[in-house]
Amino acid sequence: MSVLIPTMGALHKGHQALIKRARILSKEVVVSIFVNPLQFENSADAANYPRTPERDIELATLAGATEIWMPDYDEIYPGEIKKLHAVAIGDVFEGASRPGHFDGVVTVVNRLFEIVKPEIAIFGEKDFQQLQVIRAMKSAVEIIGVSTVREFDGLALSSRNVRLSENGRASANVIYRAMAAARLAPTVAIAQEIINTTISTDSGFKCDYAAIVDENDFSLATDSTNHKRAIIAGWIDGVRLIDNMRMGA
Ligand code: PAF
Repeated sequence: MSVLIPTMGALHKGHQALIKRARILSKEVVVSIFVNPLQFENSADAANYPRTPERDIELATLAGATEIWMPDYDEIYPGEIKKLHAVAIGDVFEGASRPGHFDGVVTVVNRLFEIVKPEIAIFGEKDFQQLQVIRAMKSAVEIIGVSTVREFDGLALSSRNVRLSENGRASANVIYRAMAAARLAPTVAIAQEIINTTISTDSGFKCDYAAIVDENDFSLATDSTNHKRAIIAGWIDGVRLIDNMRMGA
């Protein structure tokens, strides 16, 4: 049985956690590294995405990957691209801020599944909306989500964190602080208020969205929603950061 971990490289401990989980499940762990141009808003973003292939091989191998696959563009997209469309969950929040992003994600994930034919694929919960969009593809591949790995101060690990300035890095955990402070609030309205107040204390954080949603369909949560999740995205130093946290005990 093979397990696939799709990545865009610039690996860190968060990816290593996915690989380690895969190794518990299988002796065959394939890590794909492909910077998918289809999921970026413009070609400059894709071109600027950090690329660290040697370090990626080292980190993936240390974590237990048995195959590291770095396909080129033509291998993933030979001939005309058959673009897939993400389900409606992909139209809101991250999808609304980055039109076409989730269509690009499901298109490449579908191609990776077609080529590797894994039984299981593992994704990080840090991109929770992405995880739910991929689950909704309803492919034959079992999808497993793994908890976000965080820095000592709560900042979610991300390949983009290296771009933060010293000041930006110092305040970047405002997202985590906001969600952690709101987690046990008695109502959604109070939780939302706590999140808004906390993020407004950090003048360096330019908020894109901060909401509490129903995990299943990304509609706004009410007090009777069973599985509520705070989702926050914004920019520090022009670097886009996103994070999320299950609300409640
Ligand atoms: O999360 C990522 O790194 C990418 O969106 C993914 C799932 C590898 C698709 O390119």
